[in-house]
Amino acid sequence: MIKNKEFAKRRLRLMDMAGEGSVVIVRASSHKVRNNDVHYPYRQDSDFLYLSGFSEPEAMIVLLPGDKEGRSILFCREKDSHREMWDGVMAGIEGAVEQFGFDEAFPVSEIPKRLPRMLRGCDRIYYDLGKDPDFDHLLIGWMNEFRAKTRKKFQAPDEIIALGHNLHEMRLFKSRTEITVMRKSARIAARAHQRAMQVCKPGMNEADIHAELLHTFTRNQCEVSYIPIVGGGANACVLHYISNRASLNDGDLLLIDAGAEYDGYASDITRTFPINGKFTGPQKDLYDVVLASQLEAIDTVREGNPWEHVHEAAVRIATEGMIDLGILKGSLDEALEEEHFKHYYVHNTGHWLGLDVHDVGEYEIDGHSRVLESGMVFTVEPGIYIPANATAVDKAWRGMGIRIEDNVVVTRSEADILTSDICKTTSDIEELMSS
Ligand code: GLY
Ligand code: MN
Ligand code: MN
Repeated sequence: MIKNKEFAKRRLRLMDMAGEGSVVIVRASSHKVRNNDVHYPYRQDSDFLYLSGFSEPEAMIVLLPGDKEGRSILFCREKDSHREMWDGVMAGIEGAVEQFGFDEAFPVSEIPKRLPRMLRGCDRIYYDLGKDPDFDHLLIGWMNEFRAKTRKKFQAPDEIIALGHNLHEMRLFKSRTEITVMRKSARIAARAHQRAMQVCKPGMNEADIHAELLHTFTRNQCEVSYIPIVGGGANACVLHYISNRASLNDGDLLLIDAGAEYDGYASDITRTFPINGKFTGPQKDLYDVVLASQLEAIDTVREGNPWEHVHEAAVRIATEGMIDLGILKGSLDEALEEEHFKHYYVHNTGHWLGLDVHDVGEYEIDGHSRVLESGMVFTVEPGIYIPANATAVDKAWRGMGIRIEDNVVVTRSEADILTSDICKTTSDIEELMSS
C-alpha cells in the first residue's frame, strides 16, 4: 500500500515544480454509463490517484504552492447517510483531511464559490484541458471574467499549462514502494497465467480460460488492468482480440495476454503455449525465435542504454530467426533496412508500465530516444504473427501468433524482472502443463 506520506511528498514535489503563483487543478474521473442506468465499474483518474490515493468520484484536487510548503486541498462529496446506504462509505470532508492527509477539504458543491477566489491573484494554472469539457468552460469563463473586471486590481491568471509534462515525468520513475506494489501485481498475474496453463485442455473454450484468469485476479482482490486477450490458433494474430469465445483445438497454440491491477498498479504479461501441452516442431522453432528475441532485448535493459536499443535488439534477433526459418527471404541487412520484418513483427517491443498499462512518460527527448534510468518500469514483448492467409509463407507457419511479454525494472545492473514467476522456455512450459 502506498502511504499518505508518499502521496503528500508527491504533491509537494509537484508544487515545487509548478512554483509560487501557480494553482494546480486535477479532477477525478466521472462515472461512465455502460447502458441505460448501468455504469462501468468506477476507476479513478491515474493522475488523481497518484497524488491522493483517493478513489471516489466527484472530487477535485487543488494545490496552492506557497513560499513554504504550499497547501493541498480536496473538494469531495459530503457524507450522506442515504447515499451511503446505496453506494457504501464515503470519506467525506473530515475523512479527506484525517484519512487522506489533505490540509483542507470542502464540499464539491462549493467549487464555483471557492475556486475562483483561489485563482484570483495567481499567475498561471496547471490543468489538463480536454478531459472534462464542462469544467474547461467554467475555468476559462472565470479567467475571462477576471480579466474583464479586475484588470488593474490584481493579477489574473492568463495561462493554462498542461499538467501532464511535470506530473508524468514524476510518474515515470517508480519509488521503492511502487515497485513493491508492482511486483505484487506481477506475481498475481503470473499465478493466473500458471493456472491457465495447468487447466488448459483441447476442447475447452477461450472463455473457460478467461474465467480461470478472473478467478485468480478476483480472489487476490485485483481488477484486470485491461480486458484479457485469450486467443487460440489464428486468433492470436488479432492483436486486440478480446471476444474470447472460440473453442481451443488440439494442436494449436494459445496466446494469453492478461494483467492484474493491484492497488492501482498494472501488470501486463503474455505467454503463448500449446493447448495440448506439447509444442510441435514448427511451433517450437518459431517460439524459440521469439524467446531469443525477448532475451536479447531484456539484456539491453540497464541504466544508460537508449530506450530504442530494446526494440532494435528484439527486431534484429527476430528477423534473423525468421530468415533462418525461411519465413523472410534475403539478407539480414536488407530485411532490417527495408523493414521486411514488419510483415510479421508489427508492433513495438514495449511501453512504460505503472498506474496505466500503457503508462505515461515521454519516449523521446528533443527528438532522440531517451536513455534508460533506474526506476523506470516497462514491458518487453516481442511478437511474431503469421496470418492464416499469408500465402508467401510456408503452410507450417500460417495461423501462428506468438508473443512473450514480461515486466522489467531498470537498475544499474541487469533488469529486475517482476514477472519471473511464470515460466517461458518450451521445456518449462511443457513440464508445468504435464504436472
Ligand atoms: N496488453 C496490452 C499490451 O500488451 O500492450
Ligand atoms: Mn500485454
Ligand atoms: Mn504490453
